[in-house]
Amino acid sequence: MSKFHLEGSSVLITGASAGIGREFARQLAGRASSLVLVARRRERQEELRDELTKANPNLNVHIRETDLSDDRAVIELFDSLERENLSIDLLINNAGLGDLGPFATSELQRVKEMLAVNVTALTLLTRLLLPGMIARKRGAILNVSSSAGFLPLAGFAVYAATKAYVTSFSEAIRAELRGTGVTVTTLCPGPVHTEFAETAHRQVAGAPRTVPGISHVSAQEVVRVGLAAVAADRALAIPGFVMKLGMALVRITPTSILRLAARPSSKQL
Ligand SMILES: NC(=O)c1ccc[n+]([C@@H]2O[C@H](COP(=O)([O-])OP(=O)(O)OC[C@H]3O[C@@H](n4cnc5c(N)ncnc54)[C@H](OP(=O)(O)O)[C@@H]3O)[C@@H](O)[C@H]2O)c1
Repeated sequence: MSKFHLEGSSVLITGASAGIGREFARQLAGRASSLVLVARRRERQEELRDELTKANPNLNVHIRETDLSDDRAVIELFDSLERENLSIDLLINNAGLGDLGPFATSELQRVKEMLAVNVTALTLLTRLLLPGMIARKRGAILNVSSSAGFLPLAGFAVYAATKAYVTSFSEAIRAELRGTGVTVTTLCPGPVHTEFAETAHRQVAGAPRTVPGISHVSAQEVVRVGLAAVAADRALAIPGFVMKLGMALVRITPTSILRLAARPSSKQL
């Protein structure tokens, strides 16, 4: 087990313009030496940079206005880090989006975007940044998955499947990286009040708004638990007692019962 020291680290956070990603930047600001913020909304990132550097004058904050649904933009992001000699110690793959409603009526563009951001960008960034971490024998990857990845969710089918990928992928590379000095942690929050539910809501009359889940946790708590898990080299972190208990039950429940639970409620579809 190799513990990771957040103090003085250089951290890249995807999806830093809102919600959980912005909270990661806030909680890391007093501990890390540099932050690379990645998202599409530049103004939001500039506001955040100003807020963080005002409170922490020694902190370096770099902004990358990047659309992670575009493979070429992900590669260009990596190339820009290389050009500026910005090595990353901690990669937080946090950017993600959902789509609430039946798969058969989902918009193709939204489905592609979800797969590209939640799965492809996370995988490519990890692949691109890992060799440098391995060479330096120091690094950590925190992949933000979801409790939705533990079971198939009708009405949230593609999103839940992308998060099942994130959890499986993260566990597998964690095993591959044992002994290299690079750790991998998967963070699986339940519902959190951010812009996520609004983004996942379809702009059609009567579309469901409720993100499936049994208990809400704050973004602050999610980030606190996630960073503690990285520092302690934990494989998996589920913030909140109720979600932790709920997911423990899901993992021991027979598939036949889970199939019943996966049926949509009338509120969801
Ligand atoms: N909130 C929840 O209930 C919940 C529960 C479990 C897991 N999660 C996971 O937590 C992570 C963060 O979600 P959140 O709740 O903080 O959601 P949020 O408030 O909607 O924030 C999503 C972030 O992802 C970025 N993003 C989305 N599409 C992008 C793209 N194409 N290119 C670059 N950045 C993009 C957004 O930035 P721009 O729009 O500026 O690009 C934003 O910063 C996600 O992976 C989500 O699946 C959330």
